[in-house]
Amino acid sequence: MSDLHGSRVLLGVTGGIAAYKAALLARLLVGAGATVDPVLTRGAGRFVGAATFEGITGRPVRDEVWQDIPGETHVALGRAADVAIVYPATANVIAKLAGGHADDLLTTTLLAATCPLLVAPAMHTEMWEHPATRDNIAVLCRRGVDVVGPAVGRLMGGDLGAGRLVEPDEAFERLVAQLRAARSRADDLAGRRVLVTAGGTHEPLDPVRFLGNRSSGKMGFAIAAAAAARGAKVDLVAAPSALPTPPGVERHDVTTARQMHDAVFALVDVVDVVVKAAAVADFRPADVASSKVKKSDGAPRLELVANPDILADLGARRAEGHPRPFLVGFAAETDDVEDNARAKLTRKNADLLVVNDVGATDAGFGVDTNRVVILGRDGSRTEVELAAKSAVADRVLDEVVGRLPAS
Ligand code: PMT
Repeated sequence: MSDLHGSRVLLGVTGGIAAYKAALLARLLVGAGATVDPVLTRGAGRFVGAATFEGITGRPVRDEVWQDIPGETHVALGRAADVAIVYPATANVIAKLAGGHADDLLTTTLLAATCPLLVAPAMHTEMWEHPATRDNIAVLCRRGVDVVGPAVGRLMGGDLGAGRLVEPDEAFERLVAQLRAARSRADDLAGRRVLVTAGGTHEPLDPVRFLGNRSSGKMGFAIAAAAAARGAKVDLVAAPSALPTPPGVERHDVTTARQMHDAVFALVDVVDVVVKAAAVADFRPADVASSKVKKSDGAPRLELVANPDILADLGARRAEGHPRPFLVGFAAETDDVEDNARAKLTRKNADLLVVNDVGATDAGFGVDTNRVVILGRDGSRTEVELAAKSAVADRVLDEVVGRLPAS
C-alpha cells in the first residue's frame, strides 16, 4: 500500500501555462489512493477547466471563498489536509503566501492549514530571479515551506532557463517524502522527557551591564517546539530571550551560566534527553559591582573566572555510569569547523554534536535558518542543508529518536 493511501491532499492550482500538469499530478495522487481536494485560482481556471479536475479526483472543485459559507470551506479544507501543494505556483501567489494575504479561496485556505506545504514555482527566468521573488521564497523557506524546483528548461515562448515547473512525478515523490516524514515523526517522542537549553547567558558586570552573546534563542526554541509536537514532555531552560514559549513546553527562565547549570542538574535525573542549544558564557566577571560603574572612574579592569561547562559536566556524569540522559551538544565554530567539533564531541562526552558555522550570514546566531552537520559519537555524519530552524530541529530530533533505547 502506498504512503499516500487514505491521506488527504490539498492541490492548489494557480494561473500558468503549466497548470495542465496539475491534472497529471492529480491522477498520480488519486492512483496512489489519496483523496485530492483541488482548489483553483481564477487564473488557473483560464488554463484548465474545473471539469478536468472533477473528473480525475471525483471531488468538487472549489474556487470561491463564498461557496458553502456555513461549512467554512477554507477552514474545513485547511484542517482536513494532511499535506498541501501549490502546483504550479506563480510569482503572484508566492508573494501573497509570503505576505500572508487571504484574498481568494486558495490563499485563505493555506492560511488556515497547519499541514506541511510544498510550493512548486513556475515562471519566466527574469521573474524567478527578481529580488522580490527571491525574498518571498526566502520567507517561505524560513517558515518551513518545501520549495520544489523550479527546473531549468524550455519555458513558454521558447525561452530556455530556470523557472520551469518540475514534472508531476518529481512533485509526487516530494509529497510522499513530506507525508512519510510527518507520519513517522507523529508522537515518536511520546513518553520521553526532553530538556532543551536555549538563548545566550548574561554575566553581570554591574546592575546595568553584562557580558553576553548574539544568541536569540531561535534554534533552541525550535527544538523545544518540535519535541513537544512529537509528543515529548519538554522543559526549556531559557537564557534571556524575547521569544514566546512554544505550546506545551514548560519554561524555566535563567540568566547566568551558573543558574543554567543548576536548572539543568535539577532535572537531570528525570529527563531522557538533553539538547544544549544555548550559547553559554565560558567566563564571567570575577566581581560584580553592586552599583553602576561610573565612566568618571575610568575604564574598569576586567578579571574573568571560568564558568562551569554544563555539557562537559553532563558528559562526566555519563562517564561515571549514568545511562541517561542522551546528550546532544551544539558547536558554534568559525574555523576548522568539523575538526574542532569532533574534538569537542569527544572532550565533552556527548552522544551527538550539532555543528553550525556561525561565520555564515544565513546560519547560526539570530537568523531564522541554519545549516548544520550532525556528528555522532558512533562516527556518523549527517549534513542538513540550509533550512528553517524548525526543519533543522526535526532533523536533529530524527537523529536522537533513532538512537534512544526502548522505553
Ligand atoms: O539562538 P540562535 O540565535 O538561534 O543561535 C543558535 C546558536 C548559534 C546559539 C546555536 O545553534 C549554537 O550553536 N549553540 C551552541 C553555542 C555554543 O555555545 O557553542 P560552543 O561551541 O561554545 O559550546 C559547545 C557546547 O557546550 C554547546 O552545546 C554549549 O551549550 C555547551 N556549553 C558551552 C560552554 C559552557 N560553559 N557550558 C556548556 O554547556
